[in-house]
Order: sequence, then C-alpha cells, then structure tokens
Amino acid sequence: MDKKVTVIGAGNVGATAAQRLCEKELCDVVLIDIVEGVPQGKALDLTEAAPIEKHDSHLTGSNGYEASADSDIVIITAGIPRKPGMSRDDLISTNAGIMKSVVEQVAKHSPDAVLIIVSNPLDAMCHVAYEASGFPKNRVIGMAGVLDSARFRAFIAMELDVSVENTHAFVLGGHGDTMVPLPRYSTVAGIPITELMPPDRIDALVDRTANGGAEIVGLLKTGSAFYAPASAAVEMAESILKDKKKVLPCAVYLEGEYGFNELFIGVPVKLGTGGVEQIIEINLTDDEQAALAKSAAAVQELKDILKSL
Ligand code: NAI
Ligand code: 2OP
Repeated sequence: MDKKVTVIGAGNVGATAAQRLCEKELCDVVLIDIVEGVPQGKALDLTEAAPIEKHDSHLTGSNGYEASADSDIVIITAGIPRKPGMSRDDLISTNAGIMKSVVEQVAKHSPDAVLIIVSNPLDAMCHVAYEASGFPKNRVIGMAGVLDSARFRAFIAMELDVSVENTHAFVLGGHGDTMVPLPRYSTVAGIPITELMPPDRIDALVDRTANGGAEIVGLLKTGSAFYAPASAAVEMAESILKDKKKVLPCAVYLEGEYGFNELFIGVPVKLGTGGVEQIIEINLTDDEQAALAKSAAAVQELKDILKSL
C-alpha cells in the first residue's frame, strides 16, 4: 500500500482499529505497544486472517518506533483506563506521561504525520500531544465527536425504526458528560428529529448519548467501549488518507472560533490530506452556546490540572 498508518497501543481500541484499517485495505499498518509480544502477536494474527478477508495490507507489530517511520497518520490509543480508587487527576497524570513520551517518539520518526488522539481524558490528551509534538494545529485531532454522534445516530435509528444510513447527528463540546448533542442539526433523511419525535424522547436519547461511554463500561465491567471508538477513529483516518473532505465533529485547537481560545473542543471540521482543512462555524442558539461554554469550562479545568502536574 502507498499509505502507512501507525496505531500506538495494541489494546482493545488499537487492535480493533488496526483490523478495520487493513480490512478496508486503506493502508499498511504498524501496531506498537510497550508490552513485548502483544503488537507482534496481534499483527501476525491479523496477517494470517488476510487471505480470508481478502486484503493486501501489510501489518507489522513492534515495541519500537523504527517501523513506524514516515507514517501518514498516527492513531494514539496508548494509556490506562480508570481503575477503582483512582481519581481523575491520577488518570490524567499517568496518561499525560504516557502521551508525552509516545508523541515525542512519533514526532521524531514521523514528522509529517497527522495525529489522531484517542486516549482519555481525550481533550486533555490532545493538549499534551499538541505541545509535545510541536505540530501545527491542523495535524493534531481528537476523536470523540464521531463516536458520540454515532451513538446518537444509533439511538435515533432504534427509536424510529429506520436505517442508520438515513441518520445524521452532531455532538459538539468536550468528551464528557457535558458534551452537547444538537437535535436541531440531527436528521433522518434530512428531516430534523425535532419534527419526528416528542421533546421528552429527544431528551432521553440526548441523555443516553452523553452517558454512552458509562453505559458500555457498566455492561462490560472490565473495560470500556472499543468497537465503535475504533470505527470512529478509522472514519477520520479514511477521510484524511483518501482526501475525502468529510465534515466530522472532532476535537481541534480553537483560536477564537465559537468564542473559545487555546482550547481543544469538539466542533465540525473538514478532514482531508492536510488533516483539519477547515473549522466550520455553525449558528448556535443561546442555549446551545451556553451548553458549549459549560463543556469548554470542563475542558479548561482539565487543562489547568495538566499545568499543575
Ligand atoms: P487497553 O487497556 O485495551 O489498551 C491500551 C494499550 O496501551 C495497552 O495495550 C497498553 O499496553 C498500551 N500502552 C500503555 N502505555 C503505553 C506506552 N507508553 N506505549 C505504547 N503502548 C502503551 O485500552 P483501550 O480500551 O484500548 O483504550 C485505550 C484508551 O482510549 C484509553 O485511555 C480509553 O479511555 C480511551 N478511549 C477513548 C475513547 C474516545 O472516545 N476518545 C473511546 C474509547 C477509549
Ligand atoms: C467512551 O466514550 C471510554 O471514552 C470512552 O466509550
């Protein structure tokens, strides 16, 4: 393949993303993890599935970064999930350390790559990656809105018994319970859902979306969601690799857009070869803007914690 994507962290999200990338035959894939044998084993296993899945993407597993050199995109899923007894600050400080060390290696080996950040807390990890890489802001992009919007779309399709393909949804803001699903901009075959279901049902779906991550954790008990997160990261990667210029909600560094400065916030952006090619500003009602401001305040709080580490 003429494109190369490196996935850092060969755990649930990373390995599933690697699988989707190669089964869509988008690129060659390098899988990197600190645990010896795991990226090598998963890459080999996926390679052995290739004749059945009918793709010619090459997979390499490694504990070092040499094989990742000159990647077009690096998807970063390395980190630890929150465990019982751990504070949010503990998670931030551990994952910030991992993110910084990973991104320093990535920037050295793939100076022209676009970074897709997945590790949590997402918005804070985007700030760490932006600073540690020194990359321009259009090449550091957080994955959250595509996942949150996909959850909203799935719930809309279930509620109205329609094809998921007919649904469209936008969820803006930070990746937390202050995220801002936008029913006005969420449609079925172009029809706003505000015309298709009563307000109390929309509120229920909005609430389920905002708590979508916790719902899966509650069911799995031993980890968090990974199929939909991997699909979301790969949709972003595909738009960049193929220069499709899809408009997707992603966490990007704002400098004045939507009234926020020097903060990673989820907003609609156009993704093409250069990464973020345009930040699209849509009109928000006063209530929506207030909800976005609340979400931005939560991201600012995380950014402040980073400064104190
Ligand atoms: P996981 O625990 O299955 O995988 C994480 C992997 O990172 C492990 O294999 C671990 O060995 C590896 N790792 C740890 N330190 C490393 C380092 N320094 N270098 C390379 N690899 C390293 O976790 P999972 O489920 O894959 O989630 C990964 C991250 O993504 C978590 O922080 C999770 O909270 C986050 N996440 C974010 C989502 C989003 O919407 N932004 C959605 C789902 C997960
Ligand atoms: C999710 O939303 C854990 O952030 C992850 O599923």
